[in-house]
Amino acid sequence: MTAPRVAVLGAGSLAGAMLSGWERAGVVFDSLVTVNRTAAGAAALAGRGTALSLESNPDANRVAVRGADIVVIAVKPYMIDDLLPTIATALAPGAVVITVAAGIRSERFRPALPRSVAVIRAMPNTPSAVGRGVIGLVADPAVPAEAMFAARALLEPLGEVVEVPADQLDGIVAISGSGPAYVFLMIEKLASAAIAQGFEPGTAALLARQVFLGAAELLVASGEDPAELRRRVTSPNGTTERAIAVFQAGGLDDLFVAATQACRQRAQELGRG
Ligand SMILES: NC(=O)c1ccc[n+]([C@@H]2O[C@H](COP(=O)([O-])OP(=O)(O)OC[C@H]3O[C@@H](n4cnc5c(N)ncnc54)[C@H](OP(=O)(O)O)[C@@H]3O)[C@@H](O)[C@H]2O)c1
Repeated sequence: MTAPRVAVLGAGSLAGAMLSGWERAGVVFDSLVTVNRTAAGAAALAGRGTALSLESNPDANRVAVRGADIVVIAVKPYMIDDLLPTIATALAPGAVVITVAAGIRSERFRPALPRSVAVIRAMPNTPSAVGRGVIGLVADPAVPAEAMFAARALLEPLGEVVEVPADQLDGIVAISGSGPAYVFLMIEKLASAAIAQGFEPGTAALLARQVFLGAAELLVASGEDPAELRRRVTSPNGTTERAIAVFQAGGLDDLFVAATQACRQRAQELGRG
């Protein structure tokens, strides 16, 4: 399947990032159809395949999936149960359904869809927009190898694909699915701290952004462990050591554990509906 026919149901924030990533990587589709609820949402996707909306055509999801080799379902988790019965009879035999809905296990999909359809759970994140995503992919023995191959081929241009067992996908949500938001939060906080040090907001934003970008690129380019790179900028009794001690005294380690556990728990709640 070199140029698949792809339908994306729910082209919002995450699917928009995936569409940008495919565009940036020059991925060629035989056809690409997206669906949003509102006509305004569809209009915002102009130029990226055929953009449909339920507002203009209540049958848009069925129209989109007809003949599609791969259907990406990216609506909110609570919408899944209502969506599946509307598309079930329009799916092409042997179609591959990739769901990115947090928390919702494949078992919830299968009874609502034809047996010939393969259901694959994936968990991308928004840096997929620039080809720097992490995409958790459930390695499911019930899914035929060619369907997994097609899913991987679609997702690999977006970043690093990591295959995990089904019970680890909520952990992927907690670490990399929501992870970009944690990093943005830290960049915001570093910029606020820079303002508190007397810098102009523009300079503060630049300093904070460049620290994260530079540190991430140095980490990748050096191939070193982050703890080792940290040690190299932390002289005994120096300035950095003083700052790190404050982070540690504030319970940073525990905060990361607690925050990611809370995220995982919320994914499980969403899965229960
Ligand atoms: N955001 C992330 O970083 C992230 C990461 C991993 C996984 N996810 C998962 O990705 C999914 C989408 O999240 P999101 O943040 O992208 O949400 P979002 O921005 O609200 O996108 C949802 C999209 O679904 C559309 N929609 C609503 N009802 C629909 C229907 N019946 N048929 C077709 N489209 C419909 C909405 O259209 P309108 O805008 O026109 O209403 C909207 O564009 C969720 O299941 C979430 O768990 C998100």
